[in-house]
Amino acid sequence: MESQNIKWCFLGFSMFITFAACLAKPETHFHNFEITPTPVSRLCTTQHIMTVNGQYPGPTLEVRDGDSLVIKVTNRGKYDITLHWHGIRQMRTPWADGPVYITQCPIKPGGTYTYRFTIENQEGTLWWHAHSKWLRATVYGALIIYPKLGSSYPFPKPAREFPILLGEWWNRDPMHVLRQATITGAAPNISDAYTINGQPGDLYRCSSTGTTIYPVQAGETILLRVINAALNQQLFFAIANHQMTVVEADAAYHKPFTTNVIMIGPGQTTNVLVTANQPAGSYYMAATAYASAPGIAFDNTTTTAILEYNSPHSKVQRGGQPILPQLPVWNDTNTANAFTARFRGLNSQGKVPLEIDENLFFAVGLGVINCSQPNFRCQAPNNTRFTASINNVSFVLPKRNSILQALYQNTPGVFTTDFPPVPPVQFDYTGNVPRGLWTPVRGTKAYKLKFGSTVQIVLQNTNISTIEDHPMHLHGYHFFVVGTGKGNFNPSTDPARFNLVDPPVRNTIGTTPGGWVAIRFIADNPGVWLMHCHLDVHIGWGLAMVFLVEDGVGKLESIEAPPIDLPQC
Ligand code: C2O
Repeated sequence: MESQNIKWCFLGFSMFITFAACLAKPETHFHNFEITPTPVSRLCTTQHIMTVNGQYPGPTLEVRDGDSLVIKVTNRGKYDITLHWHGIRQMRTPWADGPVYITQCPIKPGGTYTYRFTIENQEGTLWWHAHSKWLRATVYGALIIYPKLGSSYPFPKPAREFPILLGEWWNRDPMHVLRQATITGAAPNISDAYTINGQPGDLYRCSSTGTTIYPVQAGETILLRVINAALNQQLFFAIANHQMTVVEADAAYHKPFTTNVIMIGPGQTTNVLVTANQPAGSYYMAATAYASAPGIAFDNTTTTAILEYNSPHSKVQRGGQPILPQLPVWNDTNTANAFTARFRGLNSQGKVPLEIDENLFFAVGLGVINCSQPNFRCQAPNNTRFTASINNVSFVLPKRNSILQALYQNTPGVFTTDFPPVPPVQFDYTGNVPRGLWTPVRGTKAYKLKFGSTVQIVLQNTNISTIEDHPMHLHGYHFFVVGTGKGNFNPSTDPARFNLVDPPVRNTIGTTPGGWVAIRFIADNPGVWLMHCHLDVHIGWGLAMVFLVEDGVGKLESIEAPPIDLPQC
């Protein structure tokens, strides 16, 4: 740490930054995370769920840009587990990224693994979650990165800040829900509730005593760090009678804009400023489903928490029922798309790659596998099993090793590097797709990128089985969202409309249902990086692929050696 600090001071002086900045020493934060089965009661039932340290949601990590984290995970549960620090770039430390069988083997029951990583040039709201099977349904928490000491937000300092973790609750062990779906081939059971900071809220049975209350003083402006930790559902979120000013998303600052409602996909974070400018009282904040796939069952309930004014007057009103905000209807794609389209990066000017080395086109969507004979394993429509793919490849996790370990040790037979850069067959992706194109091949295929190459990916949603908004997350990177549109991407006309000036910077972006979204990034972080749909139901069906980013020149462009306690398969 010392030597790092001296380097900083040198940099500080050379750039004529004040002496105070030199005293701002990056810190190392040590945490013990014990994965523990814990009884938790919601909706009049008690479930023994996996938690970190008995907390649901798990502990909030608070750090500053430049700090390091050392998190010792001990698995006292009965399932294999890994943890992922969603949105952290993990420069040269892919060993700490966490997706099971991608960058590490699982931490077995009774085992331990210590995640070590440093925050490099990132600030804002991120989160952490389990990254094996469906354990992240209950194993998740906020990861808040404050600016370095001596620097500040690009907006006035809010009077208070609150993480708002949106989640999903099942009246069963989520691992059993997944298991059942794996056996039947059908869609998994929908959740029984949505939650705000682990609490369903007043609109559900047995829930009002636990409803989360956020205190506010009349007149002040607060910052809400909204995180969608739900397993399988995009959500609309609003606060009765209060507008929200969006200032940051996925740990990147954005040009402020004001809205009555936000749409947030699983994996995404959105920071909003809220001014308590209404008559003193209690106001519901509420979240409910944005379900983009027609005809697919979803949890149609609404979770609430309360924004409560702390003033002499609020006591008078507290007896009354708080007002509910107006939320869009569940299939309001126009509102969802219009909201997402308003983002503009605050600091992305001049950073977007203009020359592209790797022009990739990914057809993203669902699929089905036909069953030759009716049997209990084929309970999706018309006696099929659901599947999903990118460029007709349904991703299969390795079982004997992680891809990163196999790569580092040169172990053959774990993965191949023939992931197709374009779909093997071109078709009318959003039209009426012939049934012959509904069944993908299965494989553990990676796509190689040279260090420093500039990459564009057009993520084209398909109408195989149904159109749907897939929140696509790329590990190890954030990317510029340069364009989006309806229908099939047109390579000769659509790029002319790209925003190469101030595009939003995200780590998770929805493919417009029945449309496309284009992203760009520079492959400056060597390692093995998973890209996948953040609806966990679709990961299990194979909606994923991996990028293998080669080392560059020298130590600073190469992955570090694996930690000695890295779990072996
Ligand atoms: Cu937030 Cu691969 O995940």
